[in-house]
Amino acid sequence: MEGVGRQAQGAVVRLGLGPFRPLLVTHPDHVRHVLRDAAENYVRGAAMWEALGRLTGRGIAGEGPGWRASRDVLVKGMSGGYLQRTGEVIAASVDVAVEELADRALRRPVDAVVEMTHLVHRIINPVFFGSRVSAAQCDRLGGEVATALGSLLWRMAMPFVPNRVPMPGDRAFLRATRTIDRILVPVIDSARRQGDGGADLMSGLLRGRGPDGRPLSDEHVVRDIVALFVAGSESSALTLTWAWAVLARHPAVVAGLRQEADRVLAGGPPRPAHVRKLVFTQQVMAEVMRLYSMAWAVPRVAREDDTVGRVTVPAGTTLVMSPYLTHRLAEFWPDPLRFDPGRFDKQAVRERHSLAYLPFGDGVHQCVGQAFFVMEAVLVLATVLSRYDVHVGGDPRPRLAVALPPRGRLSLTFTPRRA
Ligand code: HEM
Repeated sequence: MEGVGRQAQGAVVRLGLGPFRPLLVTHPDHVRHVLRDAAENYVRGAAMWEALGRLTGRGIAGEGPGWRASRDVLVKGMSGGYLQRTGEVIAASVDVAVEELADRALRRPVDAVVEMTHLVHRIINPVFFGSRVSAAQCDRLGGEVATALGSLLWRMAMPFVPNRVPMPGDRAFLRATRTIDRILVPVIDSARRQGDGGADLMSGLLRGRGPDGRPLSDEHVVRDIVALFVAGSESSALTLTWAWAVLARHPAVVAGLRQEADRVLAGGPPRPAHVRKLVFTQQVMAEVMRLYSMAWAVPRVAREDDTVGRVTVPAGTTLVMSPYLTHRLAEFWPDPLRFDPGRFDKQAVRERHSLAYLPFGDGVHQCVGQAFFVMEAVLVLATVLSRYDVHVGGDPRPRLAVALPPRGRLSLTFTPRRA
């Protein structure tokens, strides 16, 4: 992957992936054209999305009126105003999640991916469900969504095989989606009956209206919740996992983070108002997301003929944007593999091409969970480092999957901080 990016140096190139030959688009000018300026010509519809649609439906993970109905609800649901109102709940969840993690990780190594996944589920539970599901159910849902997603990989890789032809993974997919329905449908049912007007995303979706003006169906809401897990859970957990891996290699950065956490949290619990003051922590997370960009491939299909850069794009062509590769273009990121949070100083950000950095995508489909994730991640880092020394075991490289999991184990061991 990185080899292809280095060779292309920002030029639009054709990738040879067997019968599938999409165009790779990495230069910020070209990315802006596809995702922003000519966005109406570039839609989800690439093979991967077709397969994924069986799991995530035609709401937020799709296109057109069904997507618009969900997007309106979710953007409002995750707005700055919402985060301000619910910030105390999120910060309190971070506090609890960190202490639960510390209970397990105190003086014995735990698996970083497993633990970051628990932690993320703990924090998203009130945001997604208003805590209508138990912590165990939220973990179960996350696990079933991951299983269903994993079992779709064959269909994503071979999209030309019709659904009626059996493929490996079909049975696991069916079992997982049935379990998801069994957990979610009764919760939706009771939430509809209560009609409690909660601020969580599920309540928002239940108040949402489809293009026909009628409430969104249970099926639509279930698929959107699954899509939120797909979009928001693994990406968050893995990004936090990579943060620990990077910090293990940069003790001076840890010292800086700790100093900031001590000053801002002052020995107390995390609070939403701290996020704004944890400036260096935000920069560190931004640099982690530059180097470990979970959405390493963002595909679109051209509706009509077009030109990107100097390359002709016939209608029907699949284009793949790759924030992962854009974030490694030496033209915008000198010495691109060096970890340097200073790249996110205000001045440096102002001077850089605005599309050179897009871990959350751009344009009409830009991530709805961006501000929430930043809040979550910054508070997690500051809370942990203000209380514990963290020993990280293993130094794995990333592996290309739906997101970017580590190839091999990464472990975390906590010890209470020495005064
Ligand atoms: C590290 C964390 C995350 C990363 C790197 C990330 C990245 C992205 C990217 C690149 C996109 C654009 C996809 C495209 O253009 O096709 C996206 C969309 C989306 N993200 Fe995130 N995301 C993260 C966390 C979250 C969280 C926590 C949530 C939920 C609260 C979330 C919900 C969504 C949704 C619903 C979309 C689809 C928006 C649409 O199509 O209109 N994401 N995300």
